[in-house]
Amino acid sequence: MKAKMTVNKTFAIDKVDPRIYGSFVEHMGRCVYTGIYEPGHPTADANGFRGDVKELVKELNVPFIRYPGGNFVSGYNWQDGIGPKDQRPTRLDLAWKTVESNQVGVHEFMNWTKEVGVECNMAVNLGTAGIEEARNLLEYCNHPGGSYWSDLRKQNGNEKPFNIKTWCLGNEMDGPWQMGHKTASEYGRLAQETAKIMRMYDPNIELVVCGSSHKNMPTFGAWEAEVLEYTYDEVDYLSLHSYYGNQANDLPSYLAKSLEMDEFIKSVAAICDYVKAKKRSNKKMMLSFDEWNVWYHSHAADAKNEPWQYAPPILEDVYNFEDALLVGCLLITLLKNCDRVKIACMAQLVNVIAPIMTAKGGDAWRQTIFWPYAHAANHGMGTVLTPIIDCPAYQLKEKAHPHAPEITKQVPYLESLAIHNEDKNEIIVFAVNRSQDTALDFDVEFQGFNPTNLIEYKELSGHDIKQTNTQADGSVAPKDATATLNGNQLNAKLNPLSWNMIRIATQA
Ligand code: AHR
Repeated sequence: MKAKMTVNKTFAIDKVDPRIYGSFVEHMGRCVYTGIYEPGHPTADANGFRGDVKELVKELNVPFIRYPGGNFVSGYNWQDGIGPKDQRPTRLDLAWKTVESNQVGVHEFMNWTKEVGVECNMAVNLGTAGIEEARNLLEYCNHPGGSYWSDLRKQNGNEKPFNIKTWCLGNEMDGPWQMGHKTASEYGRLAQETAKIMRMYDPNIELVVCGSSHKNMPTFGAWEAEVLEYTYDEVDYLSLHSYYGNQANDLPSYLAKSLEMDEFIKSVAAICDYVKAKKRSNKKMMLSFDEWNVWYHSHAADAKNEPWQYAPPILEDVYNFEDALLVGCLLITLLKNCDRVKIACMAQLVNVIAPIMTAKGGDAWRQTIFWPYAHAANHGMGTVLTPIIDCPAYQLKEKAHPHAPEITKQVPYLESLAIHNEDKNEIIVFAVNRSQDTALDFDVEFQGFNPTNLIEYKELSGHDIKQTNTQADGSVAPKDATATLNGNQLNAKLNPLSWNMIRIATQA
């Protein structure tokens, strides 16, 4: 089967914001406790953070992490996590029905981010708390000194401010499960006033306002429009959340879920532009897709969890090969929309629906989805070129909802794009072949470039679709592949069901 992609140096979508490769650390399950933090672990540093996990986070090249939740943040009092550790209260976290020891708080987390070279995206509690707690946390984190909260930070061990630039105004406030759930007008007003007051301290911070928890929420669309009516002038990003799963065990449909993500992004961008037009605004609202991933494997196990445990294993999806392929398609989709999606966070980083798994007291290892994420985060920088793709498609019959008419959706076998990294004189091609049985004879024409040589071609293919990685066996891993470069034409044989990363050097 033939597939062709044409890219032209002058036809670009936008520059990639590195924060599109963000991740998420929530105080839930074993993400923090026995995930990033485990005093007494053989690799733990003096602060109790696992060295093996730090290495894997660096290998992933994660630039940006949303923290500390998630549903958790809507009941969190950040002051529980400061001061001497032995005096910190143990609390019940009602979001996940677990016990929170508060041994990791803002100081420990921020010091860890500095070590692993990550920027923090701090979320404030707009569920059970509000403006006062948010402004105090901002002052605590960012003010150099000479005020109550900043001096308290110094007293608690961090002389220098954390200088956190990006802040989330709560989490999933449209969801009835959320502590302090609000209507769009209740949340819109609160977010507007919180944003206003946070910006009175520092007009240069960047703020993310909550969109819908997912696109199947009954209030989806209306929620975005109403919240933006209040907050359009005060915020920089609107959030999107979406998780995908193969509950139906239908691979062609599963691998097409990235088309749903694309549609979702475009719908939300359209709502932003509707509010922009209504307000006669010059400002273009950007998007923060700050929770995305595959999440469904752990549902059955989680239904049996006993409440009020410390660091129980929850949302511990064990990912297989087909999940890695979908994650590859989702990453390409985010990149195709990089003119709107400036921030995206794979949820989450360790153990909880995560690319990295740990055993308490034991090893840390890479899940299958680690690989497309690592390839993209390490190499996918530069300008995304508009991909003109000519390739066969398969058909899916779909209904938007049970009462909707059935439509036929065309799903291209190839999902691909190319990025021009001007700093490194490099072109990076990411590609997924969705076909289960046929290789793609893939030609790429690089118009306006003088490619010189192939730097690297890594491919993830040839595994059983249900194969997983375990502590003992990490064999779902990329291998080297070959492609031919002839002038400005690349040819590669994309194996059936494969994720591919091809890097090409080009003359300046
Ligand atoms: O990432 C897990 C949970 O999913 C988050 O806490 C919440 O925001 C979302 O519903």
